[in-house]
Amino acid sequence: MKKVLLGSLVLLFAFALVACGGKKSKTQVWKLAFNQSIEHPQAQGLLWLSDEFYKATDGAYRIEVNPNELLGNQQESLESLQNGVIQMAIVGNPIVEAVNPDFAVLALPGLYGNAEHQEEIYKSGVLNELFATTVKNNFYTLAAIHSGVRNIFAKKPVRSPADLKGMKIRVQQSQLMIDVINAMGAVAVPMSQGEVYTAIQQGVLDGAENNEVTYYQLKHYEVAPVFSYTRHLMIPDIIVINKDVYDSLSPEHKAIFDRLMKETIDRVFANFLEQVTQSKEAAAAKGATFIDDFDSSVFNKNFAGVITKTLNTPSKKKLYNAIKAIR
Ligand code: GCU
Repeated sequence: MKKVLLGSLVLLFAFALVACGGKKSKTQVWKLAFNQSIEHPQAQGLLWLSDEFYKATDGAYRIEVNPNELLGNQQESLESLQNGVIQMAIVGNPIVEAVNPDFAVLALPGLYGNAEHQEEIYKSGVLNELFATTVKNNFYTLAAIHSGVRNIFAKKPVRSPADLKGMKIRVQQSQLMIDVINAMGAVAVPMSQGEVYTAIQQGVLDGAENNEVTYYQLKHYEVAPVFSYTRHLMIPDIIVINKDVYDSLSPEHKAIFDRLMKETIDRVFANFLEQVTQSKEAAAAKGATFIDDFDSSVFNKNFAGVITKTLNTPSKKKLYNAIKAIR
């Protein structure tokens, strides 16, 4: 008897849901592409955004975070987003640099004193003009976000340019990244993130460079167990959204989205800094060694040339000077 009652109640509830105007089925699901694990602070931040946006819009929108390059690598994701196949993505700055070379300025060595200084710059409004340029490529640049400090990892310690001589080190796909790593003494090999583990394993690469979180999450310590604190770059990640999708929001929903996006960025930042420490400890527990007994500035001596080479247009120089003025 009880079972029958329960069954009827379930049926009634299901009917009520459908009768409620089918609100659930009206949810617009935005696909977001991400190239690392769902545990990553950025993925966690976007999951939070999805929940809050869903609640605040009464179930009108949800963001589906697709981790681990499920929707393609970062380059492919940005193309899908421009074509409207997916709606949002988090991509490395070098990927957006391919659309507008001025983005390269954000990845120049020595631009930021530390993570907090980088955040201050990103929140100052100094990048608004730069961000607005991507509208003509059918996407809005919503934010530049902290993505750690980059260091070299390999099978052996790297304390000087001499140690790096002849070593094939993977970089993100941009001329600036190639120039920086070559200037440090290595042989830069541009490649997408998802191929790095196997390439090191098979000896196609001698190592790569990244932050502690990515190093741990992508298990790169298994194939390159020595992480040397070269601290050579801080490259942001960029949150992007398809233009038509953002434009289709009502003014009210747009205001909610913008407010929540600001909070997401703060959360990602705080969570990232926490995860750096945790990732380092976790990688060390799995056998990784972290080398920090050398002067990392030995790698900087050729950076001035790279900066001059990159600042090859008035617009790049203008942006660089504007950023440099924020102290
Ligand atoms: C960082 C960054 C990613 C990027 C990666 C890379 O982890 O957060 O967006 O893909 O570096 O080196 O490709």
